[in-house]
Amino acid sequence: MPHIRLHPRKSDAAQAVAKEVADLIRLRSKSGLKTVLGLATGATPLPLYAELIRLHRETGLSFRDVVTFNLDEYAGLPPTDPHSYRYFMEENLFRLIDIPPSATHVPDGLSQDFQKTCAAYEEAIRLAGGIDLQILGIGRTGHVGFNEPPSAADTRTRHVRLDEMTRRDNSVFFGNQEAVPHGALTMGVGTILEARRIELLAFGSGKAEIIRRACHESPNADCPATWLQRHPHCTFHLDPDSGTLV
Ligand code: GLP
Repeated sequence: MPHIRLHPRKSDAAQAVAKEVADLIRLRSKSGLKTVLGLATGATPLPLYAELIRLHRETGLSFRDVVTFNLDEYAGLPPTDPHSYRYFMEENLFRLIDIPPSATHVPDGLSQDFQKTCAAYEEAIRLAGGIDLQILGIGRTGHVGFNEPPSAADTRTRHVRLDEMTRRDNSVFFGNQEAVPHGALTMGVGTILEARRIELLAFGSGKAEIIRRACHESPNADCPATWLQRHPHCTFHLDPDSGTLV
């Protein structure tokens, strides 16, 4: 079982995770070490990113010694497309903190050679020393990153086809479902499980059932988030609505 933290409101969850991130960055910076963060997109991490920006502005938290790797990117979208995850990260975090642009990584959705791009992404994570702390959301299909069912525990960064439920859920950002790409590049479950610490956030009643499955089903490829049960330092941060069935 992952460690479960039930927070009174999603803002409390965002503050708690932001504090964990800030404490880790400060501790490692003091010893001259970089902090490698794995980052997620979607609506869920937005209050966390807002809190990190506030800590940067009001308490001087610096991201100069931080390196980031995002979980995923839509295939076929350029970084300038407002629906791309690169654009999302620039708008909602990177341009609002002092992280060096060269220290931020998002898979290249425009790659003509997915295999090569994905292998290079894995290698970049390895060269950076591995991910110290991975932020995760969860999709209603049980995906983490874009590891749709079925995704095995040893999957690596790769090109995947998106589940129709995911395309429907993400159509809120695109206006209509037809505009949502059919494919994506995502870190694998195996890549995610190698992070030294994982903080998963899930809010709202729409996530209650998948959180129940992720916590109580034995680890299986049809609900990829169940693999997180095998991680020794994984915490699920829930609000009262997402936590009703745990
Ligand atoms: C998206 C992302 C995931 C995210 C999930 C939930 O499609 N690829 O990384 O965790 O789906 O999204 P939301 O937070 O908007 O519910």
